[in-house]
Amino acid sequence: MKGRILVVGSLNMDLVVRASRHPLIGETILGGVFATFPGGKGANQAVAAARMGVSVSMVGCVGKDGFGDELLRALALDGIDSAHVSVVENQATGIALITVDSEGRNTIVVASGANLILSARHLESARAAFSSADVLVLQLETPLETVREAARMAKQMGKQVVLNPAPAQPLDAELLSLVDYFIPNEREAMQVAGADSLDDAIKKLLDMGVSNLLVTLGEKGVLVATRAGRASIPAFSVEAIDTVAAGDAFVGAFSAGLANGMRLEDAVRLANAAAAVSVTRRGAQPSLPTWDDAQELLERRF
Ligand code: ATP
Ligand code: RIB
Repeated sequence: MKGRILVVGSLNMDLVVRASRHPLIGETILGGVFATFPGGKGANQAVAAARMGVSVSMVGCVGKDGFGDELLRALALDGIDSAHVSVVENQATGIALITVDSEGRNTIVVASGANLILSARHLESARAAFSSADVLVLQLETPLETVREAARMAKQMGKQVVLNPAPAQPLDAELLSLVDYFIPNEREAMQVAGADSLDDAIKKLLDMGVSNLLVTLGEKGVLVATRAGRASIPAFSVEAIDTVAAGDAFVGAFSAGLANGMRLEDAVRLANAAAAVSVTRRGAQPSLPTWDDAQELLERRF
């Protein structure tokens, strides 16, 4: 049977300019073409999972405006149930200002807008979606108390909880112990733990109650750490042109693998393949691969 995922999280319209390099503080530079892409870590992870073939529902908020309409249409195109994405009055849809340099690296500033309205009330009205999901997927672009409440609800119902702590902030042991799979990148791991090195961050996070820690390391792949030990799983070798949403591609595909009952290592390999394909394409949601795209890379090379 098809696995079911519930994503509680953000939806943003991405306003993207490519430039040969990122501007310095106080500097103005001329960039290239401007483009808009549907994004937001929550919506990207929902789309990444849906393209792996699982059923996905999303809980979130957009404003009553053109960007909000566009983001809802984008979810519908991927067959995502958006019945619990609320359209709120007097708040703009979230946007992200993104610059991408000639090496595909990005900087992102988010104006959260309607994403900050998401509350326990929205979760309560989505209770049926919680109970029919296998896996709950969370990030940190919505209020922390809402993230915590979503994790609590899912745990009480015996669901698996995935948390991608992006953008990073310090987190407490109570929240971390509600999470089954904690997926930061290297910098986020150190920021969440308040550590100066990755090694120290891993030790602290495991001590704080993280059961399965997956640290994404860009082109170096992923480090999986549990109390039983550590393992590195390499990335696929591709030519990266735009890494926006690489982390989201990873989290969405990994969660889809989990919901379909894959072993941890197989779900990580699927996620590495999906994320590798995503960095070869531009934009957030347009860059996210289908199951067939990911399989092609998995079958072609390691
Ligand atoms: P972003 O913020 O750009 O979305 P991130 O910082 O959250 O990404 P990364 O650790 O950079 O996350 O990348 C997530 C995953 O994407 C990696 O674990 C890897 O599987 C894949 N990936 C990222 N960059 C590359 C690359 N250059 N080549 C191959 N795979 C990559
Ligand atoms: O992870 C990439 C996403 O971060 C972008 O789509 C942007 O909207 C920000 O939320």
